[in-house]
Amino acid sequence: MPRELKPILLCVFTVCITVLVVGVEEIQSDEECADLNNTTWLEYRQQKVKLQVQYLLLTRRNMDCAQMFNQESLTETQKQPSYFNISHPTKVIIHGYRILGSKPSWVKQLAQAVLRAQNVNVLVVDWVYGASFAYNLAVENYKEVALQISVLINQLQKHGSKLESFHFIGVSLGAHVAGFVGTLFEGKIGRITALDPAGPMFKGADTFDRLDPSDAQFVDAIHTDADYFGISIPVGHVDFFLNGGKDQTGCARSRFASMYGYVICDHMRALHVYMSALNGSCSLMGIPCFSYEDFLEGRCMNCDVFKGTCPTIGLSENSGIAMSPVPREQKLFLLTTASPPFCSHHFLLQLEVSPLGKSAEVEVTLKTQNLGTEQRLRLQTDTTVYRKVLSHPATLCEIDSIELKNTGARFYRQGDIHVKSVCLSEFPAVGREQPLCVNNINIRRGAPWTHDFVQVCGIF
Ligand SMILES: *[C@@H]1O[C@H](CO)[C@@H](O)[C@H](O)[C@H]1NC(C)=O
Ligand SMILES: *[C@@H]1O[C@H](CO)[C@@H](O)[C@H](O)[C@H]1NC(C)=O
Ligand SMILES: *[C@@H]1O[C@H](CO)[C@@H](O)[C@H](O)[C@H]1NC(C)=O
Ligand SMILES: *[C@@H]1O[C@H](CO)[C@@H](O)[C@H](O)[C@H]1NC(C)=O
Repeated sequence: MPRELKPILLCVFTVCITVLVVGVEEIQSDEECADLNNTTWLEYRQQKVKLQVQYLLLTRRNMDCAQMFNQESLTETQKQPSYFNISHPTKVIIHGYRILGSKPSWVKQLAQAVLRAQNVNVLVVDWVYGASFAYNLAVENYKEVALQISVLINQLQKHGSKLESFHFIGVSLGAHVAGFVGTLFEGKIGRITALDPAGPMFKGADTFDRLDPSDAQFVDAIHTDADYFGISIPVGHVDFFLNGGKDQTGCARSRFASMYGYVICDHMRALHVYMSALNGSCSLMGIPCFSYEDFLEGRCMNCDVFKGTCPTIGLSENSGIAMSPVPREQKLFLLTTASPPFCSHHFLLQLEVSPLGKSAEVEVTLKTQNLGTEQRLRLQTDTTVYRKVLSHPATLCEIDSIELKNTGARFYRQGDIHVKSVCLSEFPAVGREQPLCVNNINIRRGAPWTHDFVQVCGIF
């Protein structure tokens, strides 16, 4: 993106955050419960101190009502006992840049999703005060926040917490805060999960200044807006690039769409997909590949790099990778749907046609009763065999039918396309399933060809 566009976009970003926060924030009815701080421009300007960090604690014993947490919370002289259990692992959630000084609205939802999955201490780092307004100032503050967090971690260590039992979950700029905490502890922290780690001012940064795999024993990252607010380079051991990592399904592409749709939908998708993965209704598996283009052309279909187990998004140890040492900066690709639970199955479509006199186009649709997903293929005169990756939330054996449409060229009448064979297989391979193939079809223009699969799930 051109340099001068950034300030404009960041301004637009402002508007969205307001809209979002006004819309989503729930009213705190219980005054006993702690909440993230917030600030206004006026207050911010009047204060001399520009950085205040505080911590909220959520555990299974207080999932709905956060407790303030600080070093004193661990001593027994407290009026109210702390729910912090030193023998449990600790998840540390760090939010990112807050353009308007408002508190992030998703924090409680993420904390609760974590707690439903694991019996842990969840500490939420509230640095809204230092993360607000000017992005460059927030960036200046991030190392100071990390320093303050490291002081707390040191205290917790003294009480018996183990460094490897800490798992940081950082959103956007918060991912680099986590990275710097990791640097301070020389990579001994257990894990850092980065949800669309911030790109502006970090992409060209030294690994000392940004998140990188040396910051923790295991670093996983989810990329959803690598072309705007996210970072486009791998920063972890495994980096999941969703739908290529730039543009997300269901996020509007037009600048005339709603502000949310156009500006931060992509960036926030990493968080929503992660929360959904914690809910655990389906698995989000990444396939290692050199580039998204290669992935879409079906050149990467297995997880042999990881000795056969594909890394999954979520809390499983090392993203489910069983081998050690875990490879670093491994790019992983997956396609997702537009709404929770986001999971898709991946299919390789192999198409062989008789030589064509003119270039042509085919639209392929995979259908179940209530959903069809389509993909277009450009056919050239010099190629007869095509490979393309398609996705659908259903598994191969649940797909009811495949439809091929001769969608034609724009400038001339496209003739019939003779398809020698069209084959569909799911990957990464789940068993020894043979591809489903149909041979010898003519697809005429204007007359879609449909084939119903008659299959029984689970016979393999
Ligand atoms: C956030 O700010 C608003 C208005 O300034 C105030 O009414 C509200 O109590 C604040 N909330 C918190 C949790 O500080
Ligand atoms: C919360 O924000 C207010 C100003 O909005 C500030 O005066 C106060 O010190 C902040 N508290 C903490 C603990 O950050
Ligand atoms: C802390 O966790 C351990 C292990 O789960 C449990 O045995 C213990 O009772 C917990 N302590 C408190 C105070 O809840
Ligand atoms: C996760 O599950 C809870 C409870 O089942 C549900 O309320 C929430 O909307 C789910 N969140 C996501 C992101 O799927």
